[in-house]
Amino acid sequence: MVVIKVADINVYYDSYEALSNVTLSVNPGEIISVIGPNGSGKTTLLKTINGIIKPLKGSVYIDGRNIYEYTRREIAKIIGYVPQRENVLGYVTVLDFVLTGRRPNVRYTYGKTDVEKAYEALRVVNCENLVLRRLDQLSGGELQRVLVARAIVSEPQVLLLDEPTSSLDPKYQVEILELVKKLSRSRGISVIMSLHDLTHAYRYSDKVIALKKGKVVTMGPPKEVITEETILKVFDVKARVIRELEAVIIENTI
Ligand SMILES: Nc1ncnc2c1ncn2[C@@H]1O[C@H](COP(=O)(O)OP(=O)(O)OP(=O)(O)O)[C@@H](O)[C@H]1O
Ligand SMILES: [Mg+2]
Repeated sequence: MVVIKVADINVYYDSYEALSNVTLSVNPGEIISVIGPNGSGKTTLLKTINGIIKPLKGSVYIDGRNIYEYTRREIAKIIGYVPQRENVLGYVTVLDFVLTGRRPNVRYTYGKTDVEKAYEALRVVNCENLVLRRLDQLSGGELQRVLVARAIVSEPQVLLLDEPTSSLDPKYQVEILELVKKLSRSRGISVIMSLHDLTHAYRYSDKVIALKKGKVVTMGPPKEVITEETILKVFDVKARVIRELEAVIIENTI
């Protein structure tokens, strides 16, 4: 199990500052949700933690070692990533696509174990009936579940999920979040996910980070972060937080 530390990072796209002085640590088995308006830096934060984007200042550490000292292959063994958008190749079958998640584990070519693990990952996300389907023949929600299968097939210690529930129906939203919780509790996998649904963030996180314009507005247990005051400050909307139900209802914009 690994500890991830994001140490005072500033990330720029040309001269635009997308993340400003962000610090956070992720302990083994912890589920962290990143919330914030469109363009607040959630995807940028996940990409930086995955080593895809390099900060201008500060760095990310995996078990105390700077992420830029790891090879891509080493990072891919530790971190499973489900991007917000994925340009998928139409002609690839679901099975072949999920197998690509085993690349960091194989030396020459996929073996029997890899195929078994791909089937197992597809079972976990309830997509075993889709193994031979082509990717361009899946619904949005099916594709999203297949992306999760590919991320868990290499048995990572950290999962980065960028809006994992965005195109799922209500049942699969809850199923994916329950799955994420189960993986984190049973295998000690740390999870960092961006979410737009504040009720889900409330119910499924150990820690919530609220971002606005690239800055951390507040960070802590859901009870402390998901408040009417913070929601107003971060999202510019009036909301009601119903504590007994751990639920958030958005009322109106101001
Ligand atoms: N490759 C890029 N080049 C230039 N600017 C970028 C690039 N990627 C993101 N940005 C800008 O950086 C800011 C943060 O983007 P990011 O994708 O991290 O936001 P987000 O919080 O994930 O938003 P959303 O909720 O819409 O997914 C935005 O203003 C965006 O326009
Ligand atoms: Mg995003």
